[in-house]
Amino acid sequence: MSEWLNQVFCEDALAGLARIPDASIDLILTDPPYNLGKDYGNASDQQSVADYLRWTEQWIDAALPKLKPNGSLYIFLTWRFSPEIFVMLKQRLTMMNEIIWDRRVPSMGGSVRSYSSVHDTIGFFVGRKDYYFDLDAVRVPYDAATKKARSRSIFVGAKWLEMGYNPKDLWSVSRLHKEHPERADHPTQKPLEIIERMVKASCPPDGVVLDLFMGSGTTAMAAQRCGRNFVGFELNPEYCAIIKARLAAPQVEAGAEKKKAAPRKKPAAVAVKKTRAAKKADDAEVAV
Ligand SMILES: C[S@@+](CC[C@H](N)C(=O)[O-])C[C@H]1O[C@@H](n2cnc3c(N)ncnc32)[C@H](O)[C@@H]1O
Repeated sequence: MSEWLNQVFCEDALAGLARIPDASIDLILTDPPYNLGKDYGNASDQQSVADYLRWTEQWIDAALPKLKPNGSLYIFLTWRFSPEIFVMLKQRLTMMNEIIWDRRVPSMGGSVRSYSSVHDTIGFFVGRKDYYFDLDAVRVPYDAATKKARSRSIFVGAKWLEMGYNPKDLWSVSRLHKEHPERADHPTQKPLEIIERMVKASCPPDGVVLDLFMGSGTTAMAAQRCGRNFVGFELNPEYCAIIKARLAAPQVEAGAEKKKAAPRKKPAAVAVKKTRAAKKADDAEVAV
C-alpha cells in the first residue's frame, strides 16, 4: 500500500501535497476556510482578502497536478468569494455545476439590512470530457405520492420511475446543528449525506479522494464508508484527534443508521507530524 494512501496528515496541506504523486487522485473534494473569520485554532479563516485569494490560488495550483486527467473537483464556498475562486478554477478546469446547498436553517432572525444567507455554494469542475460520473449511484428515489400519480399503465415498469431521478443542483440537507447525532466538535462540519453523494458520483470504486482541509474528517469518513480510498490534511491537532476517532467508528454516526454502509476498506491512519503544537494529539500517530 502506498505510504500516503488512507491517511490524514496533521500538517499544512501545501507542504503535505508533496507526498502525493502527480495524476494519482480521482476526486478532489475540499472545503477550505471561507475567510469569514472563524476560529479553527489557526488564522486560516482570518486573512486579508488579497492574502486569502493569493493563498487560494497557491493551493489550487499545487493540488491540480495531483488530479488524474479525467478527475473531478468539488469545492465548498460561500457567495463572498465563490465568484473570484470559480473564475480561478474556470481558467484551469471545466465548470459543470454550481450546486446550492440549502442548509435548511429555520427562521430565527438573522440579517436585518440584507437577506439572511442560508446556503453554501459548491462548484463542480472536471478535467476533461470523459470524466467519471456515476449517475445511477446517486439517483433519488421517487416518493410514494409521485409513483402513485404515475400509476397509469403507460408508466408501469418505466425504468426511470424505478431508478429514481437525477439530483438537481439545489440540495436541501439540514446542517449539523449542535444536537445532531453526526456532529463532532468542529464548527463547520459538513453532513455525510452530501459528501457521500459526491464520492459515489465522482470517484470510481477503489479510487482516491483528496481533501486538503479535512476539518473533522467527513471526506475521509465518506470515502471509507463508500469503499473508496482517501488522503488529506488538517492543521489543527485537536481536529486530527477527532478524525482518528471518527474513522475508528464509522458506523456509529446517524447517517449510518439511515443508510446501508459499504464494506470497510483497509484500516485508515491519521499521521501527525511531530511539532510542539501536535503534542496534544500524539496518540493520533497510531494507525487505527
Ligand atoms: C471548513 S473546515 C473543513 C470542515 C470539513 N469539511 C468537515 O466536514 O469537518 C476547514 C479546515 O481547514 C483547516 N485548515 C486551514 N488551513 C489549512 C492548511 N493550510 N492545511 C491543512 N488544513 C488547513 C482548518 O483548520 C479547518 O479545520
